Amino acid sequence: MNYKIALIRGDGIGPEIVDEAVGVINRVGEKFGHTFIYVDVLLGGCATDAVGKSYPDGTAEICKSCDAVLLGAVGGPKWGSDKPAEQRPETALLAIRKDLGLYANLRPAALRPALAEACPLKKETAEKGIDLMMVRELTGGVYFGKRDRYETPDRGVECTDLMAYSEMEIERIGRRAFEMARLRRNKVSSVDKANVLETSRLWRSVMHRLAKEYPDVAYEDVLVDNCAMQLVRDPGQFDVVVTENMFGDILSDEASMITGSIGLLPSASMGDTAPALYEPIHGSAPDIAGQDKANPIATILSVAMMFRYSFHLAQEADAVERAVDKALADGWRTADIAKPGESIVGTRQMGQIIRDNI
Ligand code: IPM
Ligand code: MG
Repeated sequence: MNYKIALIRGDGIGPEIVDEAVGVINRVGEKFGHTFIYVDVLLGGCATDAVGKSYPDGTAEICKSCDAVLLGAVGGPKWGSDKPAEQRPETALLAIRKDLGLYANLRPAALRPALAEACPLKKETAEKGIDLMMVRELTGGVYFGKRDRYETPDRGVECTDLMAYSEMEIERIGRRAFEMARLRRNKVSSVDKANVLETSRLWRSVMHRLAKEYPDVAYEDVLVDNCAMQLVRDPGQFDVVVTENMFGDILSDEASMITGSIGLLPSASMGDTAPALYEPIHGSAPDIAGQDKANPIATILSVAMMFRYSFHLAQEADAVERAVDKALADGWRTADIAKPGESIVGTRQMGQIIRDNI
């Protein structure tokens, strides 16, 4: 089969980690007899530098002509919040999510066997294991609501960010979560703030309706503050966690941290039609950009998700994941996951070791 992949190398460490991931894709192509074709897409701070805006015209169309999109990372201090919106990398990220209809963001957080000791939680907690899937709504809520900024007569400037959710938006992300739970351990924890927010009360009522359609899946409501606490107290209790956009942004960082390395975690963003977008959940790490220090594993595991979800190549996905686990089990470490005294490999060497394991 032929597969066409849009590559958004982006900023900071983005280009280096995407190069290693492409190496892995090509190795899989050789081994399993697939052809992968790449289309470079300019997006992020690098696009601002090149053409004056972070989301150049036609970006969504190019991506839509591909079977999947792989993104390294975008952003950096050079294009900060003092810059006009069209020059900021974050604007481009939100725009592409919206334009490709990527309303479901899957962020798995699992302790990898070889790195159980990297978990910052108590040993007894880590021993119970962590293997959860955060399902974050990605194209609605306060991220995309109407914003306003105006002068008041007596309180200076005032701003508003509107959080809106429709039944349609809640139902489609809810279904994703229940379907995902059926492929895992049959449990959905729906996170909201229904004791305060009207959007959360609607969220909860739609989730309850769905829960009746999936009687084989255990369901619970969890308030977002309690969820933040449970994630550090007993993360092993969670299987699929579904939540709205901003809660998911915050909780997915927390979930990644408890697994020991944000440098290991992949993500997938998908809608009802192809292409889906795959990216590591870490950022562009401008402080170590271009130094062959970044951990390419999260991007490589994002490739595994791409094989599994976009191309339905389960064997190939397993092969990539096994290659990563073997590299870790053999003791190879990039700087971010090395303990004192362990020897460290760079981005390129880690990529090579993983390729050799396939
Ligand atoms: C993420 C990031 C983005 C978000 C930022 C960069 C806009 O934090 O993907 O989690 O908030 O969605
Ligand atoms: Mg985030």
